[in-house]
Amino acid sequence: MILPILKYGAPQLRTMSKPVESFDADLEEIAKNMIETMYSSPGIGLAAPQIGINIRLVTIDLTVGENENGKIILCNPEIVSSEGEQKNDEGCLSIPDFSDTVARPLKMTVRGRNLHGDEVRYEAEGLLARCFSHEIDHLNGVLFIDHLSPLKRSLIRNKIKKLAKAGEW
Ligand code: NI
Repeated sequence: MILPILKYGAPQLRTMSKPVESFDADLEEIAKNMIETMYSSPGIGLAAPQIGINIRLVTIDLTVGENENGKIILCNPEIVSSEGEQKNDEGCLSIPDFSDTVARPLKMTVRGRNLHGDEVRYEAEGLLARCFSHEIDHLNGVLFIDHLSPLKRSLIRNKIKKLAKAGEW
């Protein structure tokens, strides 16, 4: 089921999400819906808070469904180590039509659990490292605009306020 994606301003996007504890059918259903929602947007990453569920669950697929092996579903992700820095343009499905340059680690090792509760580990580099960093931020109530300068951030906030006033957000 394709679910609506919450936009900037929704309190769930600013909430610290809770660890996944039950690796059950409900969790599988949420993950399935997140994948469908992510593909339909289309997007390369989605975090559960973006569909209003504050649990530590992220989905990522740099191929946007083109390659079955590209699908990543990760519960309780943790950054084990990271190195280097990359600066690239970044956006977010919860802040549509805005993007800016964000610095992220160039490489990182991430560990977490799959839908069965088994521990899994990813060695991520480049875009995948950026994506993990962005999605894990969501689980902590952090958005990409928080990484921008105060000036850039307030410009975006003001534009969103205007859009909201006009009923276009
Ligand atoms: Ni995002």
